[in-house]
Amino acid sequence: MGPIEAILAVQPLAEVTLVSTETSGAPVAVLVRAVHIAAAAMMIGAVAFQLFALRPALLAVEESKRAELREAIIGRWRRFVLAAIAILFVTGMLNFVFKLLAYRGHPLIGVYHGVFAVKLLAAFHAATVLVMPGPRFDRYRARAGFWLTYLLVLFALIILLGGVLNGFLDLFGPMPAVTTQPTG
Ligand code: HEM
Repeated sequence: MGPIEAILAVQPLAEVTLVSTETSGAPVAVLVRAVHIAAAAMMIGAVAFQLFALRPALLAVEESKRAELREAIIGRWRRFVLAAIAILFVTGMLNFVFKLLAYRGHPLIGVYHGVFAVKLLAAFHAATVLVMPGPRFDRYRARAGFWLTYLLVLFALIILLGGVLNGFLDLFGPMPAVTTQPTG
């Protein structure tokens, strides 16, 4: 071994510290997140409209007409609600996968999983309350004012949890620095 090789063998040329610049996957991730938020906005707007405008207006209509009108509205609107729910679950899952790839190796990744799990459960619950499938939910439907308000509170919680997931690195610290030492 010559003198230069001997120096290189004991002393690294340089120590490089890399702060991970990995992001959640570029334009596709931005688009998926935008679609997720658009579907959420549509669903939340519809529930607020139902609580504050449609329901009071229907209550002012004669009882016999009310049921007919309600059926006509639900018949038209149901497919949009089901589509929004499907979009939310598909884009939400993609959001999750993109972020998991970007946050690999974060010391508090368990917190991310925990917050995501609570958000997912709350979203499942919201979807059930929103659709209230079948006659066994009739007694709940009779108290629509309460359940619509409940849904809006649930949505607020879900959005807050989404915000925590989105701001994970700001709240729980940046990705750990990666130090590479060239072998001599
Ligand atoms: C009622 C249904 C849902 C609503 C209203 C909703 C709403 C939102 C909103 C508004 C955000 C953006 C938060 C922000 O950037 O400040 C968000 C983010 C997120 N949502 Fe949902 N969501 C719903 C369902 C779901 C479901 C079912 C999943 C998973 C399967 C999911 C996974 C996520 C994830 C992982 C993020 C974070 C994305 C990021 O880091 O940018 N969401 N959600």
